Amino acid sequence: MVQNTLFMIKPDATGDNHIGEILLMVEKNGFVIENMKIFKMDHALVDNFYVEHVGKGFYPEHSEFMRSGKIVGVILSREDAVLKLRELVGATDFTQASLGTVRSIFGRSKGENAVHASDSIESAEREIGLIFK
Ligand code: TYD
Ligand code: MG
Repeated sequence: MVQNTLFMIKPDATGDNHIGEILLMVEKNGFVIENMKIFKMDHALVDNFYVEHVGKGFYPEHSEFMRSGKIVGVILSREDAVLKLRELVGATDFTQASLGTVRSIFGRSKGENAVHASDSIESAEREIGLIFK
């Protein structure tokens, strides 16, 4: 089934001028860019986007990181987009991410891991609504 999913390039990767290289990887893996924007997150948007993580030990540092620079928000489509994009992105901790995944190439740490990908169809719908409202 062709699905939409939400992809984001985070402030570490935009700050290092890796937007083009990362989008090239995505397109070469069969994803179609349906919509795209560059923006910055404020406190309220980070809290809403990462609502499942608010209150966890890593959250304050993660929130500061997500507000520290430009973000590229991208709606991507392809067959099984949600699962296929999570595979292409790799594990949250870049040291655990499979070779060739986006995070294995561009990640710096568990928190500064270059990109976001929705983890389910429900999350994709919710996140697309938040970023492209
Ligand atoms: P999570 O949803 O668990 O990972 P993913 O992005 O792979 O879906 O966590 C959201 C983000 O929070 C993650 O990309 C980076 C940050 N994070 C940390 O900084 N430390 C942690 O221990 C965890 C679990 C996440
Ligand atoms: Mg997640």
